[in-house]
Amino acid sequence: MPDTPKHLLIVEDEAPLRQAIAEQLADHGYRVEQAESGEVALAKLTEFAFDIIITDLRLPGVDGSAVVEAAVGRYPHIIAIVVTGYGTVKDAVEAIKRGAFDFVSKPCQIDELLHVLDSALEQRRLKSENAYLRAQLEQRYRFEEIIGKSQPMVRLFQLLETVAPTNSTILITGETGTGKEVVSRAIHHNSPRRMHHFVALNCSAIPETLLEAELFGHVRGAFTGAVGNRQGRLEQAHKGTLFLDEVGTMSPGLQMKLLRVLQEREFERVGDSHTIKVDVRVIAATNTELGRMVAAGQFREDLFYRLNVIPVRLPPLRERKEDVPLLVHHFLEKLEVERAARGGAKSSDRLTVSQEGMRRLMAYYWPGNVRQLENAIERAVALTAGRSQIEIGDLPVEVQQAEESALSSAVTLPAGGVDLSEFVANIERELIQRSLERTGGNKGQAARLLNLKRTTLVEKLKRLGRVPNP
Ligand SMILES: Nc1ncnc2c1ncn2[C@@H]1O[C@H](COP(=O)(O)OP(=O)(O)OP(=O)(O)O)[C@@H](O)[C@H]1O
Ligand SMILES: [Mg+2]
Repeated sequence: MPDTPKHLLIVEDEAPLRQAIAEQLADHGYRVEQAESGEVALAKLTEFAFDIIITDLRLPGVDGSAVVEAAVGRYPHIIAIVVTGYGTVKDAVEAIKRGAFDFVSKPCQIDELLHVLDSALEQRRLKSENAYLRAQLEQRYRFEEIIGKSQPMVRLFQLLETVAPTNSTILITGETGTGKEVVSRAIHHNSPRRMHHFVALNCSAIPETLLEAELFGHVRGAFTGAVGNRQGRLEQAHKGTLFLDEVGTMSPGLQMKLLRVLQEREFERVGDSHTIKVDVRVIAATNTELGRMVAAGQFREDLFYRLNVIPVRLPPLRERKEDVPLLVHHFLEKLEVERAARGGAKSSDRLTVSQEGMRRLMAYYWPGNVRQLENAIERAVALTAGRSQIEIGDLPVEVQQAEESALSSAVTLPAGGVDLSEFVANIERELIQRSLERTGGNKGQAARLLNLKRTTLVEKLKRLGRVPNP
């Protein structure tokens, strides 16, 4: 018997049978309503959110399958069970495709029905428990988990605290690995929408043809392979937050449809004319300058303004070197916790990074930003194998080289000799990196610092390849 009384609607056109089942279920603690036809059931469903619906498949007029589809379409959490006569399993399978949980065959045995109900309720409980655990996991996405004490990060936190509780659309811009996704999750979890879903959709990871159906959902038969009705990410994000990653890669057609969603908060599933209203907050992210794409005619200007209501720019790691030691410490701690959780021996000393190693970590250009740093630390930890300190040699070669070329001692000739052109190229690369850092990526100013023509610098950047275009 269920702990809190469950509301159940039973749909059956044979009155004696319907009443018999209703009475037995009531005896087992269910609050039972009855409907003698599909039409009556549909009417009752619009008025009340039942927990369970049990329906005969063969009904005059609106049949059981249609009732199931309507019930599940309206209440995704409702448990629908169909009763099949004449042993026609095919129809029951059809009903399950439309969202029914299970079927029982006529003549309906109460024990069998109770058993099916129990397992359906148990499944639903587990499902909501999982959702609860997931929500707890997401506690991780608090601002406190975003590491950074540098000026740009302090300014970022101030901005996030102001805008998180609002409904405004946010456009996050930042190089790869700067934390666009962690920041957007943190915004969601610091907003009144935190009890609802955070739904992420990476626009560049899905072929364009599928992206539309993914975003808006589709109805059965909308295209080849569309076997059933399906909710899109927009619907899943209802009352919550939709995170549109790499929004710059969206096709012009989809850009137009997204614009409508942002303006009207409504859309249609692919292949359907029924308009669906949603209440979503949109956070978009891009690692390309959308403004530049607008100027180049690759992105709709009106959509850009709709997305860019609150621009949030995440600084690259090289613009906040003072955060590198904090991040290193954070990742070492995280790795230690993970190791302990896997049952690894507790190490007496916390792993540290040698001063020299830290200098190089701070000197490196980090084109892959925080993600790249995290990977470098993970790799270094693996290489230390029992030592208590991470040394330069444990760091990736490019990080080792970053500082080397800038050290004054680098101009002494090592005993084993050097590869002159590689050595000179390293120094050149380092000086170019530094000039770009100092000028915030402005190539014209950087070229002047190096006494080069801008075009020469651009040429060199291309040739070096390893220095990303900021
Ligand atoms: N400020 C930060 N503090 C702690 N961890 C961070 C921070 N920024 C990023 N990270 C970590 O770096 C990794 C990359 O972050 P995230 O996926 O959010 O980057 P992104 O900007 O979305 O990158 P991409 O453009 O490549 O998708 C994640 O493991 C994230 O936890
Ligand atoms: Mg990302």
